[in-house]
Amino acid sequence: MKFFIDTADVDEIRKAVDLGLVDGVTTNPSLIAKSGRDFRDVINEITALVDGPISAEVIATDAAGMVREGQELAKIHPRNIVIKVPMTEEGLKATHIFSAEGIKTNVTLVFSPLQALLAAKAGATYVSPFVGRLDDVGHDGMEGVDDIHSIFENYGYNTEIIVASVRSPLHVLRAALIGADICTIPYSVMQQLCKHPLTDVGIKKFLADWGKTGI
Ligand code: E4P
Repeated sequence: MKFFIDTADVDEIRKAVDLGLVDGVTTNPSLIAKSGRDFRDVINEITALVDGPISAEVIATDAAGMVREGQELAKIHPRNIVIKVPMTEEGLKATHIFSAEGIKTNVTLVFSPLQALLAAKAGATYVSPFVGRLDDVGHDGMEGVDDIHSIFENYGYNTEIIVASVRSPLHVLRAALIGADICTIPYSVMQQLCKHPLTDVGIKKFLADWGKTGI
């Protein structure tokens, strides 16, 4: 399973790259706003750190506006920019146009398997089901991912599933068991994945035993 990091914080990206865990990056308008920096500057800097798909989201809500913004963003890097488009009728139109132009897309804010099917039919490179936000309203977000995975298998769609809105290691575990292509993970959850209390206890004991040898 590929790991993307879900952040617009360049320092976090650098740390995760050093861990060897980053295959790509996803950003969104809220994450860019949180960084307090210029959108294009942030995306530019990320392209220098990560040689993989980097999602940059459009702000326009009409297809023509999305296409204009996306075409500009796509110029930032010859192959790595992925245009993030919302799951709306206008977003599908834009996805269809981008697909014909060879521009990669990530259809975002997907909350049902049928939305994912529509995005794949429109030619999306990636779909992003938001599992955490579904959990927040009492649904099991990962069940939807399982359904999307079956639908894409049934019909041989090449669209890759990015499990998004990841809140805990359990989301990552379930994504891996389902066989989702990608999980986009906040840096804090990457750190949680690395940790196990028995690992810490084990290191402590090894060092204490070694200390007793007097070597
Ligand atoms: C995905 O691409 C989104 O940026 C992200 O996963 C949204 O996560 P949130 O629900 O924690 O905001």
